[in-house]
Amino acid sequence: MYHERQILNIALLHGVNLNMLGQRDPGHYGTLTLDQLEIKVVSEARKLGLVCISYQTNHEGELVEKIQELRLRSLGMIINPGAWTHYSYAIRDALEMVEGPVIEVHLSDIMARPEEWRHHSVISDVCDQTISGKGVDGYTEALQVLAQRLNPAV
Ligand code: DQA
Repeated sequence: MYHERQILNIALLHGVNLNMLGQRDPGHYGTLTLDQLEIKVVSEARKLGLVCISYQTNHEGELVEKIQELRLRSLGMIINPGAWTHYSYAIRDALEMVEGPVIEVHLSDIMARPEEWRHHSVISDVCDQTISGKGVDGYTEALQVLAQRLNPAV
C-alpha cells in the first residue's frame, strides 16, 4: 500500500534587529548573517525530515500576524524575538495560541548579560523550552527537540 509522506512544516521566526546579524556585535551574536543562519537551519531541518519556513521582521504587529498564520500552517516553531523577548506581551499572547511545540532560542546567554532587563523573558512561560547562549548551535538543538516531538521515528 502507498503511504504519502506527511509534510512536517515548522517555522523559524526572528524578530527585531536580527536582520543585522553579521554586522551586529559579533561577540554576542556571532558572524553569520541571517541569510546564512537560515540556510544552515533549513538544510539541517531537511535532514531531520522537517520543512522549515523562515521569516524575520522589525515590526511587532507583523510578527504577531505571522505567528497567527503559522500556528495553522506549521506543526512547531523556533522563535528568537530579539529585544521583544523582554517586553512584548503581544507576541507572548500570540504564542500562547500555538498548539504545537514552541522553542525559544537566543544566540547570547541573556541571563549572563550585564543589562538586567535582558534577564527576563516574557515569552518563556508559553514556550516548551528555552535555549540560550549556544550561538547557532542553539538552533540545531531546537530542531532536534522539534524533530523528536513531531516525528519520534527520527
Ligand atoms: C537575543 C538577545 C536579546 O536580548 C537581544 O535584544 C537580541 C538578540 C539573542 O539572540 O541573544 O536582539 O535574542
